[in-house]
Amino acid sequence: MKKIILSGMRPTGKLHLGHLVGALANWTKLQDEYDCLFMVADWHALMSEYENPSELKANMRDNVLDWLACGIDPEKCTIFIQSHVPEHLELYFILSLITQLGLLERCPTYKEQLREVANRDLKTYAFLGYPVLQAADILLYKADSVPVGEDQLAHLELSRQIARKFNHLYKVDCFSDPQALLTQNTRLLGLDGRKMSKSYNNYIGLSEEPQVIRKKIQSMFTDPQRIRLADPGHPHKCNVFSYYTIFFPQMQKEAEQRCAKSEIGCTECKKELAEKIIVLLAPIQEKRSSLQEDEKYIQEILSAGCAKAEGLARKTITEVRELLKI
Ligand code: TRP
Ligand code: SF4
Repeated sequence: MKKIILSGMRPTGKLHLGHLVGALANWTKLQDEYDCLFMVADWHALMSEYENPSELKANMRDNVLDWLACGIDPEKCTIFIQSHVPEHLELYFILSLITQLGLLERCPTYKEQLREVANRDLKTYAFLGYPVLQAADILLYKADSVPVGEDQLAHLELSRQIARKFNHLYKVDCFSDPQALLTQNTRLLGLDGRKMSKSYNNYIGLSEEPQVIRKKIQSMFTDPQRIRLADPGHPHKCNVFSYYTIFFPQMQKEAEQRCAKSEIGCTECKKELAEKIIVLLAPIQEKRSSLQEDEKYIQEILSAGCAKAEGLARKTITEVRELLKI
């Protein structure tokens, strides 16, 4: 039997290169080896977007299109929408029965978000429970592994604590002990050198036009000590070089040397990078636009995925209800 993997993404906007290296490239590899469930986490998105949910539906469709375009294969894995499988909320409540308030209040991501997110009111009952819903997502399918970036490790640890507490309390072996599958390359820096993110507006979108990509890459900061072309560059202090390393490792040596030996200027180096990124994204964009026409196909994938997920979820919920005498 193949091991089970579950991962999810919140549909809060269009996907960018950070999602490609942080998650999607990894997901497409995992789908060959594992039984993968990939979920659109729309309830999680609502926990922060509840004041203005108008773009949620469009984002969900857009993200699923990108997943498919990047090579997530519905023949190999299950693609579904969290809110279409009601068992998520049922298990969320059940797990909340046994989750200590202190665990949630101390969660580092919770404290950080409350501190840093200024334009949304996150002081809600639901938002405190964010990791409990995530635990429900994972435990509902008895996932063995969860591919996540470093920022999600605390949530995964909470899921494991909740699972252990449940098993211990009811003297069962109901839930799995899900392991983190840390994604390498998780941190793709954005155009300004901070983490690539929609909210920093420093991203390159997966469906961006070549002209826009050229312009955005030309705007990237380079080695600040390199003023004239003749000055040798310090590639390891340059974000442009890190893109070569991440996306075109076969070119890493060359890019490093020609910079350090001042054989190339920054404008030229960025121009070349832009053309390479454009070529890299072209097949994804092509596949995306051909899929985009076929609304029926997308709907079929999602309804088949949701039905499959629901079948699995139902089994776990039946088991859990019996344990709770409900
Ligand atoms: N919290 C995750 C994020 O923001 C998304 C998510 C929701 C998730 N449910 C999940 C990830 C279950 C892994 C497993 O990225
Ligand atoms: Fe960065 Fe390229 Fe300029 Fe070197 S040549 S500093 S790698 S942009």
